[in-house]
Amino acid sequence: MSQTPVNPVPQHIAIIMDGNGRWAQERCLPRLAGHNAGAKAVERTLKAAQKAGVKILTLYAFSTENWTRPADEIDGLFKLLEQTLSRYTKEAEKYGIRLLVSGAKEPLPPAILKQIDQAVSATAENTQFILNLALNYGARQEIVHAVNALLQEGKKEIQPSDISQHLYQPSLPDPELIIRTSGEERLSNFLLWQAAYSEFYFTPVLWPDFDEAEFEKALSAYRTRKRRFGGL
Ligand code: IPE
Ligand code: IPE
Ligand code: MG
Repeated sequence: MSQTPVNPVPQHIAIIMDGNGRWAQERCLPRLAGHNAGAKAVERTLKAAQKAGVKILTLYAFSTENWTRPADEIDGLFKLLEQTLSRYTKEAEKYGIRLLVSGAKEPLPPAILKQIDQAVSATAENTQFILNLALNYGARQEIVHAVNALLQEGKKEIQPSDISQHLYQPSLPDPELIIRTSGEERLSNFLLWQAAYSEFYFTPVLWPDFDEAEFEKALSAYRTRKRRFGGL
């Protein structure tokens, strides 16, 4: 008898979409061309996830550390986000996708914040799929934000569940699988709390080259992982 486990399709997958800059560099293109190509990979991955039966996708779009990049790259990234968000909001309404955004509001540009609020409320009733965009996201900041909220409530002693209930998206289950592209094998301040028992899948593929076939490879690697949760 085979001992190989067969895990069901994860409900929640989180992705560190890395390698846009290197993809552009390989083609002697400006870094922004890599981010543009990365936006197309987001669309492909969203479709692949829905097709596979995944229910929640958390995508790391901009970290709290990414503010250290040159101003023109940051400006370009936010322009791209503005364009993508307005296109996605229409698509999201059509396909029943609910948009959530995780991260700190400060210091995001007011125009982006307004657009996010509109997209989040326009899709709030959608139940088919959740796209959670980690934007200006830092996991340490998220945990500190949770602890501060608990202090404000007057808590003197807390349990792990208190932290979970005060994260940016307390209603989301922890991701069963975290994918990182581009060959880097680190979390870069992503989901430190939620990743306690996540499975990791690292691929050398650069994010702009990520597609349904690569997504399937990650799913099939996950399928046979033996998840022990500390037991036997
Ligand atoms: C990921 O690609 C996108 C963001 C961090 C916004 P990078 O821009 O980090 O690409 P590399 O790592 O330089 O190749
Ligand atoms: C992580 O990628 C952040 C996002 C994908 C948004 P980075 O490229 O910023 O991470 P490091 O700097 O290589 O750790
Ligand atoms: Mg990178």
